[in-house]
Amino acid sequence: MTLPPGPAVTRKIYRMETTLEKAEGLLEEASALVNEELDRLLPSETTKPEQLHKAIRHSVFAGGKRFRPALLIAVGKAFGADPKKLLSSAAAVEMMHTYSLIHDDLPAMDDDSLRRGKPTCHVEFGESTAILAGDGLQTLAFETIAADEGLSAEIRIRLVSELASAAGIPCGMVAGQQFDLESEGDLRDVSEEEIERIHRSKTGAMIRASARCGAIVAGADRDQLDLITEYAEHLGLIFQIIDDLLDITETTETLGKTAGKDEVADKATYPAVFGIHEARNMAMGYYWQAGEALNKLQVSTAELQELLEFIMMRDS
Ligand code: IPE
Ligand code: IPE
Ligand code: MG
Ligand code: MG
Ligand code: MG
Repeated sequence: MTLPPGPAVTRKIYRMETTLEKAEGLLEEASALVNEELDRLLPSETTKPEQLHKAIRHSVFAGGKRFRPALLIAVGKAFGADPKKLLSSAAAVEMMHTYSLIHDDLPAMDDDSLRRGKPTCHVEFGESTAILAGDGLQTLAFETIAADEGLSAEIRIRLVSELASAAGIPCGMVAGQQFDLESEGDLRDVSEEEIERIHRSKTGAMIRASARCGAIVAGADRDQLDLITEYAEHLGLIFQIIDDLLDITETTETLGKTAGKDEVADKATYPAVFGIHEARNMAMGYYWQAGEALNKLQVSTAELQELLEFIMMRDS
């Protein structure tokens, strides 16, 4: 017989649901802001070469949680930034992220046909256009920041440098994607250190940079930047561990991308190497560490805590 939940359990479930709703509200607000900015910045579908711009808009506006811009905006707001000043970097991190997804889905990489509930860019527009769509988004991201006259030249340089190292080599997303591909196939030899390196670089680096860019625009001091980095590094690891778990536990319909692909490709994921239970425990360990970093900050971190909990509880 299942017992009805006692008051403590009821309170806990109520708190979890409230937190989830608040985080979803944050993501919705950020989506509205960043979508408007992206629409303004991206060439229209009728701008030549039309196919390229259609492909870019297809991938950018297919949906997506807009987690990185939401994080950037929440961090910026926590440190007192004017929200208008956060828009260019929020749009830029989403452009970089969408570029990484378009390339990640290519036949030469994860070979996926569904993304954000829609056919992937190369399926809809062909491989060469998909490669160029990713390239175009990447360069436009840097141009967007460099051209934002609402920010000082010094801040623009810091943002460009932050994004470039997070997306690039030797420890950014591009390096991480290489580690990810190289580790496919033989899980027996993958150590905890190696798998952490893959996750930190392929996913963690861009999440870390999103948080840091918000703090940089806000003019956060050195100690604040260090604590927000500590929070975001843990958040980045949790993000990819949960992504790996969802690939196993959720359906293609819920995810909007093909479920179960990691096992087929023999990817070095936390659940594949440590098992589902241990992978969840590891995410929980990082969750507490991220929360500890937030507790040390002398600013209001409620929204950052909500985003952290959302990442733990999400189902897509
Ligand atoms: C998916 O990122 C790719 C990873 C880094 C795991 P998201 O889960 O943020 O994808 P969207 O933007 O919501 O589609
Ligand atoms: C991708 O990781 C990380 C990126 C840099 C895009 P995954 O390959 O696990 O992302 P999904 O599951 O395809 O979204
Ligand atoms: Mg991949
Ligand atoms: Mg993939
Ligand atoms: Mg995945």
